[in-house]
Amino acid sequence: MRVIEYLNIAAEEIEKVLKDYLPDGEYGKRVVEAAKYSLFAGGKRLRPALCFAGCEAVGGKKEQVAFFAAGIECLHTYSLIHDDLPCMDDDDLRRGKPSCHKAFDEATAVLAGDGLQALAFELFTHPLQVKNTTPSRLIKAIRTIARAVGFEGMVGGQMADLLMEGKKGGIRVLKWIHLHKTVRLIEASVVCGAILAGGNKRQIQTLSKYGKYLGLAFQVIDDILDITGDEKKLGKKVHSDIKKEKLTYPALVGLPESKELARKYTEQAVSSLKPLGEKGKFLKELAYFLLERAF
Ligand code: IPE
Ligand code: IPE
Ligand code: MG
Ligand code: MG
Ligand code: MG
Repeated sequence: MRVIEYLNIAAEEIEKVLKDYLPDGEYGKRVVEAAKYSLFAGGKRLRPALCFAGCEAVGGKKEQVAFFAAGIECLHTYSLIHDDLPCMDDDDLRRGKPSCHKAFDEATAVLAGDGLQALAFELFTHPLQVKNTTPSRLIKAIRTIARAVGFEGMVGGQMADLLMEGKKGGIRVLKWIHLHKTVRLIEASVVCGAILAGGNKRQIQTLSKYGKYLGLAFQVIDDILDITGDEKKLGKKVHSDIKKEKLTYPALVGLPESKELARKYTEQAVSSLKPLGEKGKFLKELAYFLLERAF
C-alpha cells in the first residue's frame, strides 16, 4: 500500500473515533470548539499512522489500537497549539489555518491544549481500547507515552528549545533538544502500537530504534523545510525559526550538511528494520517518503 493511502486510512480511523467522542460542551463549549478546530484542521496524522504500523508490524490489526492512536493525535495536537502561542514560537498559521490562539484567543488555546492532553488519557483507557488488549500491555503503553511527552520527553525538550533561542549551542545540545521535543513521541507512537498488540521484546527494541532514527530525521527535515519549504504545502509559515533565532541544524551546519544528516538518519532507521523482514516494508517506505519532503 502506498504511504499516502496508509496515512489517509489512519486519518479516517482516528477521525471516526474523535468525532464520536469529543463532547459538545455546555457553558465551556468554546474550548471544545477550539480543540476541534485544531484537531480537524488536517495534519499528516503521522503519529497515529506509526501506532497502527507498529501494531501491524508485530501481527496485530489496526482496529486493536484505534482509540490509542486517536489519543496520540490529541497529545500531538495539544503540543502544536501550545507551541504556536506567543509565549512560545509565536506562529500565526498552523495546518493551513490561523493558529488556535488567533482563531480564538490565548486563554482558550491554553485550555484547548490542556483539555486535549486529558482527553488523550481518557481515550487510552476507553472501554473499547481496554477490551482490545491486556491490562498489563495497556499500562505499559500508557506509561511509555506519558513519559515520552512529560518532563523527560517533549515538555523538557520544548523547554530547552525555548531556552536556547538566540544563544550559541553545539550539536550535542541540539540533538538533545530534538530527541526530547520530537523523537520521544514519534518513537513511543510506533512502540505503543507494538506493545498493545503483544509484540515481543526483540520486536519492540527494533521498533524503538527505528522510531528514534525516524524521529531524528523528521525534526532535521522540519528544520530544513523552515528554509526551503512552501507555506501552502506546509500549512505553516516558513522562516519562523530564523526569526526566533532558533538553534537548528541549518543554522548550525548549513543546508547541504543538514540534508545529508536527514538522509543518514533515514538510512539508519531503515536498516534498524532488518529483524522484521517483510513486516518492516511499510515502515521502510514511510521513512523514505518523509525524507523526500526535504529534497
Ligand atoms: C510538527 O509535526 C511538529 C514537529 C514535531 C516538527 P507535524 O509535521 O507532524 O505536524 P502535522 O501533524 O502534520 O500538522
Ligand atoms: C515543535 O517543533 C515540536 C513540538 C510541537 C513538540 P517546532 O516548533 O519546530 O514545530 P513547528 O515547526 O512549529 O511545527
Ligand atoms: Mg517549537
Ligand atoms: Mg514551532
Ligand atoms: Mg519547526
